Amino acid sequence: MTKESSALTDERILQSWSRNSDPWVAAVRGKEIASRALATDAAIVDAVRSCAPRTGVDLGCGEGWLVRALPEVSMVGVDAIAGLVEAARAGGGGEFRVMSYEEIAAGRLQLAVDVAVCNFSLIGEAATAGLLRAAPSYLRPGGTLIVQTVHPLVSCGDAPYVDGWREGSWAGFSSDFNDAPPWYFRTLASWITLFVDSGLRITSLREPVHPDTGKPVSLILMGQLPG
Ligand SMILES: C[S@@+](CC[C@H](N)C(=O)[O-])C[C@H]1O[C@@H](n2cnc3c(N)ncnc32)[C@H](O)[C@@H]1O
Repeated sequence: MTKESSALTDERILQSWSRNSDPWVAAVRGKEIASRALATDAAIVDAVRSCAPRTGVDLGCGEGWLVRALPEVSMVGVDAIAGLVEAARAGGGGEFRVMSYEEIAAGRLQLAVDVAVCNFSLIGEAATAGLLRAAPSYLRPGGTLIVQTVHPLVSCGDAPYVDGWREGSWAGFSSDFNDAPPWYFRTLASWITLFVDSGLRITSLREPVHPDTGKPVSLILMGQLPG
C-alpha cells in the first residue's frame, strides 16, 4: 500500500468534515448543489414518507435540512461534527445530538424509531458497516433503514467496478471547501450484501434519474428489520 492510499480512512473522513462544516452549511442552505434541487432532495423525502413514520432518526444529518423537511415526523438528527449539529439546532425542527457512527455501533444511540435515514452520509468503510449492523439498537422491530447514496454505475467512473477506497473531490463546489474526504466505493451487489448481512430485508430499490441527462443521480435502498 502506498503512503498516499494509507490516508484513505474512516478517520480522515471526519477530519475533512470538521474542516468543511461552514462551507457545507452555506452550500446546502444556498441550494448550491444542483442534483439535490433537481431530484435527490424530493426522492429521499418521498422515500421516508412512503413508510408513513411517526418517529425517525437522521444518521449523519449535517446541518439538518431533512429533519426540517419532515415536520410531521418526530425526528432526532445525529452527526459527529459539532459545528454541523450546532447549525442544525439553530435551524430547529427536531432534536440533534453529536455522535459518531463508531459510537452508535458501540450501542450509544438507544432509540426504537420507525425509520432511520442516511442521506449521502455513508461515506466510509468500517464506519458504514458498523452503523448498519447496529440497526436493532436504534430501529424498532419492523422499522426501516433508508440509504440514499451515489449511484455505483455513475460514480464508478473509469476505475474498476470493485469495492475500494477512492480519493475525494470538491469539484463543482465553491473554493471555500478544502481537503475533500476520501470515500469507500461499493458496488450495487456489495450494498445489497451489506443490508442482508445486517439483518435488513430489502423492500425497495429506487434509482432517481436526472431530468436532463436521463442518468441515475442516486441509489436509494430501503431495508426492514424483522418484526
Ligand atoms: C454529504 S454530508 C450529508 C449531510 C446530510 N445528510 C445532508 O443530506 O445534507 C455527510 C455527513 O455525514 C457525516 N458523517 C460522515 N461520517 C460520519 C461518522 N463516522 N459519524 C457521524 N457522522 C458522519 C458528516 O459529518 C456529514 O455531515
